[in-house]
Amino acid sequence: MGFKRADFPEDFIFGVATSSYQIEGHQFGGAGLTHWDSFAATPGNIKGAENGATACDHYHKWPEDLDLIQAMGADAYRFSTSWARVLPEGTGQPNPQGLDFYDRLVDGLLDRGIKPFATLYHWELPAPLADLGGWRNRDIAKWFADFASILMRRIGDRVHATATINEPWCVSWLSHFLGHHAPGLRDIRATARSMLHVLLAHGAAVQAMRAEGIDNIGLVANMEYAQPVSQNPADIAAAERYDAIYNLWFLDAALLQSYPKAALDGLEPHLPAGWADDFPMIAAPVDWIGLNYYTKKIIAAADGPFPALAEIDGPPPKTTMGWEIYPEGLAYFLRNIHSRYGDRPIYVTENGMSHDDQVIDGRVSDQVRIEYLEKHVAQLRQVMAEGVDVKGYFIWSLLDNYEWALGYDKRFGLVHMDFETLVRTPKVSYFALQKALKRQ
Ligand code: FCB
Repeated sequence: MGFKRADFPEDFIFGVATSSYQIEGHQFGGAGLTHWDSFAATPGNIKGAENGATACDHYHKWPEDLDLIQAMGADAYRFSTSWARVLPEGTGQPNPQGLDFYDRLVDGLLDRGIKPFATLYHWELPAPLADLGGWRNRDIAKWFADFASILMRRIGDRVHATATINEPWCVSWLSHFLGHHAPGLRDIRATARSMLHVLLAHGAAVQAMRAEGIDNIGLVANMEYAQPVSQNPADIAAAERYDAIYNLWFLDAALLQSYPKAALDGLEPHLPAGWADDFPMIAAPVDWIGLNYYTKKIIAAADGPFPALAEIDGPPPKTTMGWEIYPEGLAYFLRNIHSRYGDRPIYVTENGMSHDDQVIDGRVSDQVRIEYLEKHVAQLRQVMAEGVDVKGYFIWSLLDNYEWALGYDKRFGLVHMDFETLVRTPKVSYFALQKALKRQ
């Protein structure tokens, strides 16, 4: 690794991240069905119609996984809590096994000296709430706040930090406009409503958690660097629209109580009247910002209605996701968050790459992942030297896992997963990090 712990402030946090549906094994422990189960059961949505029923069986193998985190020398673990595991119907009666599971997990982390970073929602909406319109239904703010309270009453006394919703752009735009993720809609009105409701739910959950005495709360947004394909004004404007929808909409609302004009121009006709009245709830104060960063997109103007843009295939190097590797984008966003939203603690809550990793003679040689991480960490150190308050860096992911609509063959883990035997094999990148994170 081209960095070591001593290069960072004493309290800097190195962590690994996962999410519930992607690793736990949703069939275990009395969890209710989610909209990912129904999405996966619908032909054509997911490669091989794969789902999260078994995934990495983290539900049973969590002690082994926490041992791996500890042995790597990570300071923190960012996991998510499945709403449908805690509340199988989405509201109402909690599932005791679900609450017990997260309770054990948090204790297991503390026993091993690892800081628990919880994310309340990482995409597996309880199916009964999807039946009621899911993120299109304004009532979701209350349903989500109730879930946050119930969960925090159980684990809130021991979590180090809590994020509300992972990647509001994916919850709304990717899932209601592009149709790539559950519920697979392609509808601008549904998109606009979900873009509002995901923010309202965030704000309502922040308030509910504060009422339970919880602090150190954040919002995790994903960002993609938007580069216009040419200097033609139409292409520049298209890239600005992409940037506004993707990178600015959510944090502008939550931190500045405004929406970026380039996005609002297209979305306002589809928002309810009085949408601006929701800002005070949306902007419930947070303690930190989480940034998930992977790649950049090249954007061109296109014919047709808003957002009237097209993504153009970019040059190598790319990962097996087809995502261009562009470490400079990480520094760009960290600087931009700092200048746009003021001096607030920032965590890089996800960064990492997929690769066709194979176990050969017991070894998984993923040198390209080491280089990816080195280049991104170098960008991080650069902006920290400029005075941006970055408090931690989480690698996606601890384990190879269920990569949503792309199923099980996109491998992001520091630890290889054999999905037949569930054998875990740490990759060369894991050992490189272990060495880099060792305290002298
Ligand atoms: C992020 C998601 C995470 C995983 C990575 C590759 O957008 O938060 O669940 O899919 O991408």
